[in-house]
This record gives sequence, C-alpha cells and structure tokens, in this order.
Amino acid sequence: MSDTKELPQFPEPYWRDNLEIPSFPKLKEKISVDVGIVGGGIAGITAAYLLSKENLKVALIDAGVLLNGTTGHTTAKVTAQHGLIYDEFIKHFGEEKAKLYYEAQMEAKEFIEQTTKELQIDCELEEHDAIIYTNSDEYITQLENEKKAYDQLGIEGELIDTIPLQVPHKKALIMKNQAQYHPLKFLKVLVEECVKNGVQFYENTTAVDVEYNKHPAIVTRDGHRIISKFVFAASHFPFYDGQGFYPTRMYADRSYILAVKAKKKYPGGMYLSAELPTRSLRSVTINGEEVWLVIGQDHKTGQGKSTIEHYHALQDFAEAHLGVEKILYRWSAQDLITLDKLPYVGRISENEHAIFVATGFRKWGMTNGTVAAKLVSDLILGNDSPYEELYTPSRFQADPSLRKVVQINADVAKHLIKGKLEFTDNNIHALAADDATVTRINGKRTGVYKDLESNLHAVDTTCTHMGCEVEWNSGERTWDCPCHGSRFSYTGEVMEGPAKRPLERIDVE
Ligand code: FES
Repeated sequence: MSDTKELPQFPEPYWRDNLEIPSFPKLKEKISVDVGIVGGGIAGITAAYLLSKENLKVALIDAGVLLNGTTGHTTAKVTAQHGLIYDEFIKHFGEEKAKLYYEAQMEAKEFIEQTTKELQIDCELEEHDAIIYTNSDEYITQLENEKKAYDQLGIEGELIDTIPLQVPHKKALIMKNQAQYHPLKFLKVLVEECVKNGVQFYENTTAVDVEYNKHPAIVTRDGHRIISKFVFAASHFPFYDGQGFYPTRMYADRSYILAVKAKKKYPGGMYLSAELPTRSLRSVTINGEEVWLVIGQDHKTGQGKSTIEHYHALQDFAEAHLGVEKILYRWSAQDLITLDKLPYVGRISENEHAIFVATGFRKWGMTNGTVAAKLVSDLILGNDSPYEELYTPSRFQADPSLRKVVQINADVAKHLIKGKLEFTDNNIHALAADDATVTRINGKRTGVYKDLESNLHAVDTTCTHMGCEVEWNSGERTWDCPCHGSRFSYTGEVMEGPAKRPLERIDVE
C-alpha cells in the first residue's frame, strides 16, 4: 500500500492485499474426473462449487494462481446496470431477450446474496443504487430512452437532475437496490467449500489443448491429462477454440483503477459516466477508513497512448473532484468484449456437447460470471436453463452486427502489418532505468526493458498466439498484444492468454 499522493510505483489490486488465499500444487499426473474446469476466476470457482454440491467429481486448474486474473482486478459492482444497454438490447434482440438478460443479472445478484447469508461470508456486501450520469446533451436523450426501456422491462429506475457527487452532470438514471462487495473474500470461502466437497485445485498448470478419445481430456503444458466427461473453459479467453472462432469475435479492453483516500466524503451509491472517457466510482473500507475507487480510461489493449498516462488522467480527475489525500493502490483490469455485447456462454460450438465455454463478460463479470457458472452447471447436470439460447456462443450466425467481425479482423491485420514494419535501431544502452523500447537486434523486432537495477531484459516481440507484435505497457511493465489481448511479463512469461507460450528471450548483455 502506498502512503503518498503520488501513484504507487507498482500496480497491485487492493482485493488481494492482506488476504490469504489458499494455494495449491501443480498437476503432476493424469487424473480422471466428471468435470474439468480451466480458470480460477468467478465463473470457474462458482461452477466448481455448484457442481461439487451435486456430488460431481471436479478438478479446476489455473495457469497462474487462483483469483489473480480479471476477477482479482475487478471493481466488484453487483448490478444489472451495465451502462446504457437495455434500449440497445430491445432494438437488437427484442423485449423478451432484453428482459431475460436483466433477469439473469438479478438472479446472479440474488445468488451472491443468498450464498453470503448461507455460508455467513463476511464480504462487505452492501446494497447501493447504481447510477449512470451525464453532462452531455446528446447523452441526455440516451438516458431518457434507457429509462423508457427500464419501464418497458419493469426495471425499477428513476431519472434525476442532480446526484450527490460533485462532478459536472446534467442528468442521471438510477437503477435501485443494486450491490457491491469484496469479491475475493466471497470467492475465498467458495474455494474452501469446494475443497470440503472434494474439488481438486491445481495452480501453475496451463491447459494447452483438448484431446478426444472416449471422453475429452484437457492436456497441460507439462503433458499431463485431465480426463473428464465435461470440460468447462472459464479461462477468460478460451484456452481451446473448438472451431468457435473466438479470436475473430472478441476484443480485449483495459481499464484503470485508483484507490484514493479523499478529502470529500463518499456520498453512497455506485456511479458510472455515460460518456467517454468513462468514469466509474464506488467506495470501499480499508483499515476502517473510507476509500474511493476511481475507475476509467477504457481503451483497446495494446493500442493507444503510454498506459501510465491513463493513471495520471484518473489522478487528475480525483484531484479535481474529490481532493486526493493519498493514493493507496493502482491497478488495471482487462476485459473481453463480444460483437453484440452479450457474453458467449454455453457449448463451445454448435455440435459440441461435452465442452463448454464462458467468456466476453464486458466488464460486468461479477453478475455475468455468476450467470455463466449457473448456466454451464445446469447444462452439465441436464437441467433446462432459461438463459441457454440468449447466451449461446453459436448465435454468431444470427448476429446483427456481423460487420464488426470484418472490422475486428481488419484491425488485427493492421496491427500484424504495422507492428512488423515499425521499428528502429534504438541504442538500448542509452535506455533510462524502468524504461523500454522496441528495436532491431539481429534483424528481429525486439522489445527491451531496463529494470530498476539497470538489467536489460529483451524479448522477441512476436506474440506467440497468432503473430501480431506486442507493445510496451508502461503502467504495468508488460508487453501487451493489440490483437487478442495476450499479455507477457517483461521477461516474456505469459500473464494472460490466449497465448500459451512465452515470448522468446533474446540475449543482449
Ligand atoms: Fe492473438 Fe497476440 S493475442 S496474436
């Protein structure tokens, strides 16, 4: 935790600090289970909990440690107010499906509330209204249309002219009785319950493929197998494509978070700006003190300005509107966005009955991740789910915004080509400490980072997923891929997929 008004030197999510999360060994043998789950975030862990309660034998593996992906970096709003979406959903999918989406989110909220009560989890679950505000005339009309959509769908909401936040605004739309919590305190207890129910957890175990014999087997990078009747890819970006063409149907988006002790008192509620740059706010209590979480600056991963500038923009916003006393933490989160803004949850492709996927939660993973866990568990258990058709990944064919596929692919192609051409012969020895550059070494595009002790770390910048060129992320000290969001440490290790292999290290000393 930092003790100054300056940005903390290293990114660290508040949720993981001072919380002991159980750790687990690496998988070192072949095992057989009913369900093999890949990914130790909210969707994977909640599904493991639900399935193990039904006496299924479950194994869950994670490429890193549990709860350190997007779930560990979330803002943890438990709400059905996911920006201005209901008017758009009614237009794209019709009233019935828009309503189903809302109901799915509210069911997820109820599950979190019920489970908190049932297992007596101390996870700071609090009810708050969710509020979208705008200072732009153009968005006022959109807020009014969204309110009409609320009325049509029976969502309890209200349009208001003033909010208790001292940020410029002209209008706001409230969704009543939503919630926020400490996601890791909640999920840690679910992990402990899973262990009691016999779930086997393995960390630092990367899934690289699925092999088919009588049953599918998850293959790990070390060559071990998890033979399962069912496989659930809950790995953020699916570790296995199963001809679902996921890289062409999603893009990765980053946002930034500051935990700020402010001069102003937090007025209650959870806030989100309608216009860009996004500003999102909620409170949290840290060591008995009220702290503001200030979130925003969303942009496509690996594209845009130096990432540390995004933190500075949030810092300026906090200084101007809340008065900064201390910035305690800074961190960022990466989310996947689908073509039509609905997550892909269900059978990984149309004719596949044993492999399931959940991805593309579009920054609303606390409810969508919970919906995904429940939906996939229902499909595995043979139960009907009202949400199966809405979330099915195979809806691709009927997608109303098919044009975006072309756009996303064109964007990927642009980055493939642009990255290959743009590099210079920078003198790496002139690099300042804690700085990075892209240069040419032996004819290869090479990324070089000089650490705080002046050691050089060089990697081949060709992403091991599909060959785009990674870009330096100064805020997190990582190499990020603009095409599908893979992220690598400055030493080249995979921090986030879809890439499974590290960047090649280059000798420069
Ligand atoms: Fe797909 Fe890098 S993540 S090419």
